[in-house]
Amino acid sequence: MAPRWLSLALLAVAAPSTLGSPTGGRLDTRDDSGNEAFSPPYYPAPHGGWLSNWAEAYEKAHHLVSNLTLAEKVNLTTGTGIFMGPCAGQTGSVPRFGIPNICLHDSPLGVRNTDHNTAFPAGITVGATFDKELMYERGVGLGEEARGKGVNVLLGPSVGPMGRKPRGGRNWEGFGFDPVLQGIGAAQTIKGMQSTGAIASIKHFVGNEQEMHRMSSVVTQGYSSNINDRTLHEFYLWPFAEGVRAEVGSVMMAYNDVNRSACSQNSKLINGILKDELGFQGFVLTDWLAHIGGVSSALAGLDMSMPGDGAIPLFGDSYWGPELSRSVLNGTVPVDRLNDMVTRILAAWFKMGQDQDYPLPNFSSNTDDEEGPLYPGALISPSGVVNQYVNVQADHNVTARAVARDAITLLKNEGDLLPLRRNDSLKIFGTDAGPDPQGLNSCADKGCNRGVLTMGWGSGTSKLPYLITPQDAIANISSKAEFHITDSFPSSVEAGSEDIAIVFINSDSGENYITVDGNPGDRTVSGLHAWHNGDELVKAAAEKFSQVVVVIHTVGPIILEEWIDLDPVKAVLIAHLPGQEAGNSLTDVLFGAYSPSGHLPYTIPYQESNYPESVDLIQQPFGQIQDDYTEGLYIDYRHFLKEDIRPRYPFGHGLSYTTFEYSEPALSVITPLDTEYPPSRPDKGSTPTYPDTIPPASEAAWPKNFDRIWRYIYPYLDNPESATAVANSSETYPYPDGYTTDPQPAPRAGGAEGGNTALWDVAFSVQITVTNTGRRPGRAVPQLYVELPDSLGLDTPSRQLRQFEKTKTLKPGESEVVTLDITRKDVSVWDVVVQDWKAPVAGEGVKIYVGESVLDSRVECEVGGGCSTL
Ligand SMILES: *[C@@H]1O[C@H](CO)[C@@H](O)[C@H](O)[C@H]1NC(C)=O
Ligand SMILES: *[C@@H]1O[C@H](CO)[C@@H](O)[C@H](O)[C@H]1NC(C)=O
Ligand SMILES: *[C@@H]1O[C@H](CO)[C@@H](O)[C@H](O)[C@H]1NC(C)=O
Ligand SMILES: *[C@@H]1O[C@H](CO)[C@@H](O)[C@H](O)[C@H]1NC(C)=O
Ligand SMILES: *[C@@H]1O[C@H](CO)[C@@H](O)[C@H](O)[C@H]1NC(C)=O
Ligand SMILES: *[C@@H]1O[C@H](CO)[C@@H](O)[C@H](O)[C@H]1NC(C)=O
Ligand SMILES: *[C@@H]1O[C@H](CO)[C@@H](O)[C@H](O)[C@H]1NC(C)=O
Ligand SMILES: *[C@@H]1O[C@H](CO)[C@@H](O)[C@H](O)[C@H]1NC(C)=O
Ligand SMILES: *[C@@H]1O[C@H](CO)[C@@H](O)[C@H](O)[C@H]1NC(C)=O
Repeated sequence: MAPRWLSLALLAVAAPSTLGSPTGGRLDTRDDSGNEAFSPPYYPAPHGGWLSNWAEAYEKAHHLVSNLTLAEKVNLTTGTGIFMGPCAGQTGSVPRFGIPNICLHDSPLGVRNTDHNTAFPAGITVGATFDKELMYERGVGLGEEARGKGVNVLLGPSVGPMGRKPRGGRNWEGFGFDPVLQGIGAAQTIKGMQSTGAIASIKHFVGNEQEMHRMSSVVTQGYSSNINDRTLHEFYLWPFAEGVRAEVGSVMMAYNDVNRSACSQNSKLINGILKDELGFQGFVLTDWLAHIGGVSSALAGLDMSMPGDGAIPLFGDSYWGPELSRSVLNGTVPVDRLNDMVTRILAAWFKMGQDQDYPLPNFSSNTDDEEGPLYPGALISPSGVVNQYVNVQADHNVTARAVARDAITLLKNEGDLLPLRRNDSLKIFGTDAGPDPQGLNSCADKGCNRGVLTMGWGSGTSKLPYLITPQDAIANISSKAEFHITDSFPSSVEAGSEDIAIVFINSDSGENYITVDGNPGDRTVSGLHAWHNGDELVKAAAEKFSQVVVVIHTVGPIILEEWIDLDPVKAVLIAHLPGQEAGNSLTDVLFGAYSPSGHLPYTIPYQESNYPESVDLIQQPFGQIQDDYTEGLYIDYRHFLKEDIRPRYPFGHGLSYTTFEYSEPALSVITPLDTEYPPSRPDKGSTPTYPDTIPPASEAAWPKNFDRIWRYIYPYLDNPESATAVANSSETYPYPDGYTTDPQPAPRAGGAEGGNTALWDVAFSVQITVTNTGRRPGRAVPQLYVELPDSLGLDTPSRQLRQFEKTKTLKPGESEVVTLDITRKDVSVWDVVVQDWKAPVAGEGVKIYVGESVLDSRVECEVGGGCSTL
């Protein structure tokens, strides 16, 4: 464990230019001409607790926080230090009131670095199912496993990155390259997870679109994602708003800057957008070791420092902990701000019922041994039982297999080569069909690409409890399969005329602290091509065999051009990142027990140059990368449509073994859009109040005879009176520009979690009848795209996904009526002047397309004009 964290730790030494800067951004370099990105100040931090659905939780939190001392409050805001407990991070505790160290732990696809867990399919796979129920069920499984292991906060789902950069390393942790797919994926996951009592943490807020240079090092500063207001609202913020609307308990800030202000202390993002406009009621935490300023981050709205360490990890110092105690005692951070931090944290804890029988951690992510040091980060630590090997898998393998299966996306199937028959003569090629020859979980955090690719690498992983490889599953079903688990085509192989070759290839990526085959997280070296000479392997097979099936496990878009049009390549499947049930889910589809029903959660281009230059990876040895989002909303299919570039396979594409017909389309008006802007928001409800007097210094003094663990982060000060002396002196703190303690007027776009509730009024509803017109059972995925009218006065993508549904399995001839709802927000643009969502009155001029991909529309409706089939 230590080496991978240490490499991360070295990268985390914050650049001097941001240290000590109260705003985190370099406002001194700001250029008001608008040529330089600038994040405007937004103070003070809005209080949580003004919404009725959180009222009970806030009431409980209020009572408790009223009775907490300064040290107890600070304890809950600050991690105790990296490696200072079983989880990736844990806060201090409040023994007096029975509040344990709150355990925060990875990952979005399963509990990381433990045993007897499920390694679920990754987010990108979940997105490809387009199945809201499976998204929810997987969330339940994740939550149950987190709870069973004693994880209070499971760090996921991930909706940032959003796939802006096709080579970006962590795109696979999210649900696809579209804000609505991400938003629905996130909301369903959060609802599922939190139904079990585990707190979800939606991440990374925001603009973490490439891995390289995301953090500061001695010579570079983490890059700045410079995103304009409209692009932020209509694209990158969208899934976070859906997550907040789903009552997510916590939000993790990204490593990078936005507009030259570090996300962990960007007041506009946290105070302004997240807590005020989106009405977020939970707590905000840093990404691991992304905390770079004490007072600055507190004022900017941060609520929790993770894992608590300061500039140099493992030294036992922190920007918060004792320094947060000091900054309250010396009057710099209002006690009101600290109270709000703790109230938010405890409100989330109460809301999920974690005060009732929530297990303590019974595993250690630091070791597989049963016994070990309780605080490995301390050189001298008491030991004890750290792993109880609790089996939390239940029947989650069923969900894992269903997700992986229903994600499998059939791109091509000439002459109906698929499904295969059990007695077909099969020759299987590629290491991606087999096991890792060095053993299951043989590389930490999946930082290698050996055997079938089940997930990318980094913190977004979990160990495989077992792995059903494609080889295992095919061997179990087929009576005539011959395996060549190699990436160099064996010249000795004989190809009979009836033989079918199945070639397995893959493309991997991951998190920046591990480099695999020269790729530092991002697909820097591999580009969008198959790894391990996969293209050569397919071409070699196509030279010998007249029937070739290609199976691809990939983190994202992959270029297929070297072989996709070769005559023998009849069928191509993308199996995404399937997790532990890789083999079974694949054979379920290959041999026809199920029709494929996955759809592409991104576009597959002919070549990488089809993308705009502005989404290339940026390398720069010194200084800070300014990553300007000049392409605006034109990401993935939005770009291809705008530039009229034909993709190889469009977003949403996915074939079945059967065919579907769409008929009887009908559009109904549900809530008339009488006004351009939504009706005005309700006023904010009241929030908990506390005395605003600075607590006595003694509350931060070390307890008598305290048995302290070396390098552990505590809330205590050696000489707390020295801090109050500062408060009594005339010394003042250089507050950031725009700092105030007077609340801002409530933003008009807000009003509830996610924003003004009227934004989710269903404006229109489209009904269609989907009929299975083929000869096999299958599931259709009607996708609804909108085209907004020019009358809005803004350049807008010609198609934007706004809704989708997945039918049940329809037998041949069987029909299902599908209803797709469109909200006010779905037909609105973000008005940067008014700072609100603006829709065409009555939806005048809105066009709606329903089809099987962004380019395969089957139904067109025009508001006011009715619908037709195409
Ligand atoms: C970033 O800067 C742009 C102007 O360049 C502005 O529209 C936007 O609101 C800023 N966003 C944040 C979060 O600072
Ligand atoms: C906190 O103190 C108040 C009195 O100030 C008391 O009524 C309440 O029960 C206490 N809450 C807890 C959790 O002890
Ligand atoms: C703060 O947390 C630490 C570690 O869990 C604990 O030992 C200490 O007692 C806590 N302090 C207070 C004041 O509760
Ligand atoms: C109060 O303490 C904080 C934390 O150490 C420090 O950053 C700040 O400068 C202090 N305020 C004053 C006025 O000295
Ligand atoms: C660990 O979890 C198991 C099952 O959820 C539970 O029985 C046990 O008490 C937990 N261990 C601790 C230390 O809470
Ligand atoms: C799931 O695991 C259980 C045992 O825990 C096993 O009985 C069952 O067959 C598995 N289901 C699938 C779909 O693999
Ligand atoms: C394979 O099985 C099918 C029935 O599933 C049968 O019709 C066919 O003749 C068999 N082919 C061979 C070569 O045995
Ligand atoms: C092998 O296939 C049979 C059905 O053909 C199935 O019941 C069994 O679970 C499979 N075993 C494995 C390990 O996949
Ligand atoms: C600062 O003032 C407060 C009351 O205003 C007092 O309680 C405290 O003792 C003073 N601290 C010092 C160090 O003088």
